[in-house]
Amino acid sequence: MQNVFPSTHPLVKHKLTRLRDQRTEPKKFRELVRELAALLTYEATADLVTYPVRIQTPMSETDGQDLQEKIGLIPILRAGLGMVEGVWELMPSAEVWHIGMYRDERTLKPVAYYNKLPVAPTVAVCLILDPMLATGGSAVATVDILKQWGVSKIKFVGLIAAPEGIQHLHNAHPDVPIHIAAIDDHLNENGYIVPGLGDAGDRLFGT
Ligand code: PRP
Ligand code: URA
Repeated sequence: MQNVFPSTHPLVKHKLTRLRDQRTEPKKFRELVRELAALLTYEATADLVTYPVRIQTPMSETDGQDLQEKIGLIPILRAGLGMVEGVWELMPSAEVWHIGMYRDERTLKPVAYYNKLPVAPTVAVCLILDPMLATGGSAVATVDILKQWGVSKIKFVGLIAAPEGIQHLHNAHPDVPIHIAAIDDHLNENGYIVPGLGDAGDRLFGT
């Protein structure tokens, strides 16, 4: 499928395996989420636009490149919060705009509960951060919000996706690239990804 990019990097595979393991306790889990978020964002941002600058090294003048586009990180609460620090280390000047979204346990539909986006967009590129793409409802609703806000360059950066979630997000927003560590087998009857890693928010926050 076009615009879907599962990572093939051995470090990602190794860290994801540790992350899935049920013996991994919250402290290590948070560390792995942070590291995986950085590795995946490195891959997801390969097409960011730069502009030429001239700088002085201790030895001579030389040509360099600076990032041109203002970047926004959009963690979907709660679990997306775990990815922010890792990405922020790569892009310290990125703005962070939180979107609150939870899944109704019965319908599995996303329920929006927090959005403080200003009226006019303040960034040119949005990276949606959420470890889990299950039914895809939360991701689709978040892209809807960001497009309404006025941003057209949007990427989804996640850790584990179900085929159902990828299909849903791709059908609704084929222009949004999906960068993930792995595509898993299926969703179970409760909407959980199998084999997955369980509940990402609970494992991050020890709840
Ligand atoms: C999880 C996850 C995603 C969503 C994915 O959040 O972090 O946001 O489920 O499911 P979907 O693709 O079917 O929409 P959850 O609703 O459990 O909220 P939490 O992060 O606050 O625990
Ligand atoms: N949310 C999670 O945290 N895990 C899943 O498997 C699906 C949705």
